[in-house]
Amino acid sequence: MTERARTVVAITGASSGIGHAIAVAFARRDAHVFLHGRNELALARVAREVVAAGGRATVVAGDVTVESDRRHFAEVVHRDAGRLDVLVNNAGRGYYASVDTIDAEAIEALFRLNVVAPIRLTQLMLGDLAWAKGAVVMMSSVAGVVAAPQLGAYAATKFALEAIAMSLRAEVAAKGVRVLVVRPGPVETPFRANSLHTDGKIGYRPAAAKAQSPDEVAEMVVRGVSRGTAVIETSRFVRVASLAARVAPGPFRWLSVKMAERGGATHAARAD
Ligand SMILES: NC(=O)c1ccc[n+]([C@@H]2O[C@H](COP(=O)([O-])OP(=O)(O)OC[C@H]3O[C@@H](n4cnc5c(N)ncnc54)[C@H](OP(=O)(O)O)[C@@H]3O)[C@@H](O)[C@H]2O)c1
Repeated sequence: MTERARTVVAITGASSGIGHAIAVAFARRDAHVFLHGRNELALARVAREVVAAGGRATVVAGDVTVESDRRHFAEVVHRDAGRLDVLVNNAGRGYYASVDTIDAEAIEALFRLNVVAPIRLTQLMLGDLAWAKGAVVMMSSVAGVVAAPQLGAYAATKFALEAIAMSLRAEVAAKGVRVLVVRPGPVETPFRANSLHTDGKIGYRPAAAKAQSPDEVAEMVVRGVSRGTAVIETSRFVRVASLAARVAPGPFRWLSVKMAERGGATHAARAD
C-alpha cells in the first residue's frame, strides 16, 4: 500500500490496554499509527505488533500533561503525514476515593490528564484533522454518565470530557470533522492497578468481574469511526446503567446508596 493511501491515526495512551488494542485494530486496516505514551519500551513493543499486523508505526514518547510534549506530538504527525484521519484521546487514569478523602492536588492532576490533555491535543491537531475531514475519538467511560460511590473524582473528569465532546461535535461539524465518544464499562487492562486509590496503594488489582477485552472495545472504535457514530456504549452493562440513571433516577439513587453501604470501592469498581 502507498503511504498516501494509509489512514493516519494518532493515539494517546498507546503503550497499554485499550490504546494498544486500538493501535493494532487500525494496523489490521493498513493504517499509519502514531503511538504516544511515556513508556518508550512498551511503545516499541506495540510498534512491532502494528507492523506485524500490516500497519506502519511511528513512536512519539511524551507526557500528555506537558505542553511541549503535546506540541512535539502534533508537530511529528504534521511533519510525517501532513494530515490526520483519526485522533484517539485515550490516555487516562482512574481515582478511587470517597469525596471526603479526595486529595486536591491529585484531582487537579487528574483533570490535567483526563480533560485538559484531550482539549489541547484536539486544538493542536484540528488543522490536520480538518484537512482530512477526520474524526476525534474521546475515550470516556460509563463513569462519564454515571457517578458510582468512590468514583466521584474520576467521574467528574469523564463528565467534563463528555461536555467538551458535545460542544466540540457541534463546533467542528462545518469543517467535516466528526466526534466519537466511547463509553466502556470494565475492560481487562492494568487500569485499576494504575489508578490512584484512597489507601495510597498502586499495584496489581484484579480486573473487575465481567470485564470486556480491550480488543472487543478496539474493534467497536474502528467500526464507529468508519460509520460516523456519535456515541458507543460498549457493553450491555453500560447501556443498562446509562439508561437507568436517566429514566429511573430515583431507584438508581437508592441502588447507589446500597452500593456505598456495601463498601463502595469494590462494588463501584464495576463502573470504571
Ligand atoms: N479499563 C477500564 O476498565 C476502562 C473503563 C472505562 C474507560 N477507560 C478509559 O480508557 C482509557 C485507557 O485506559 P486503559 O484501561 O487502557 O488503562 P491503562 O492500561 O492503564 O492505560 C493507560 C494509558 O494512558 C497512558 N498515560 C497515562 N498517563 C499518561 C501521561 N501523563 N502521559 C501520556 N500517557 C499517559 C499510559 O501510558 P504510559 O504509562 O506509557 O504513559 C497508558 O498507555 C482511559 O482514558 C480510561 O479512563 C478504561
